[in-house]
Amino acid sequence: MSSNPQSVASLIRDVKDFPKPGVLFKDITPVIGDPKGLKASIEAMLEKVPDGVDAVCGIETRGFLFGVPIALELGVGFVPIRKPGKLPSDIYQESFDLEYGSSVLNIHQDALEKGQRVLLIDDLLATGGTLSAAAKLIDRFDAQLAQIQVLVELCGLGGRENLAKVTSAPFSAVVTDKGSE
Ligand code: PRP
Ligand code: MG
Repeated sequence: MSSNPQSVASLIRDVKDFPKPGVLFKDITPVIGDPKGLKASIEAMLEKVPDGVDAVCGIETRGFLFGVPIALELGVGFVPIRKPGKLPSDIYQESFDLEYGSSVLNIHQDALEKGQRVLLIDDLLATGGTLSAAAKLIDRFDAQLAQIQVLVELCGLGGRENLAKVTSAPFSAVVTDKGSE
């Protein structure tokens, strides 16, 4: 069955001035709350996945929503990349800048193996800070980043350019704020 990115795009809700004035928030809750939207979003992402993926990494929180079903469909394991204070065993950590201040992402040190082909999933690319930090974490394992994929790409915030500074992995989005890819 062919996926329908337009149907996914039509379910994304624009919320003005959230989380602060001047920001137009892309709310994916109507996508995942709709049975057809949920199915179409996972199918659309799956269609773009390259062959030979050994593991899926998803970024807390919204990356988990798409990463886990994709890993299940691919028949590979899921690796959580988490916010601080959540992973109980030995971790690698990576800091990254936010508009105001900074944040940190963690991964378990035994989560991946050298040479594995890894698919990195999040819901959305904005400035690229989050995915860049996650790509750096995966690099600690000498794993191969086979693809970075999101459901939604916000263009014009420098996300792709910032990602390209830290990884040459292919990037794919199902929909952008300029329309479907
Ligand atoms: C959001 C979104 C992406 C990230 C994109 O996560 O889910 O992970 O911001 O922004 P960037 O490209 O500028 O880094 P956030 O941590 O705000 O919330 P979440 O826990 O709901 O995923
Ligand atoms: Mg997030």
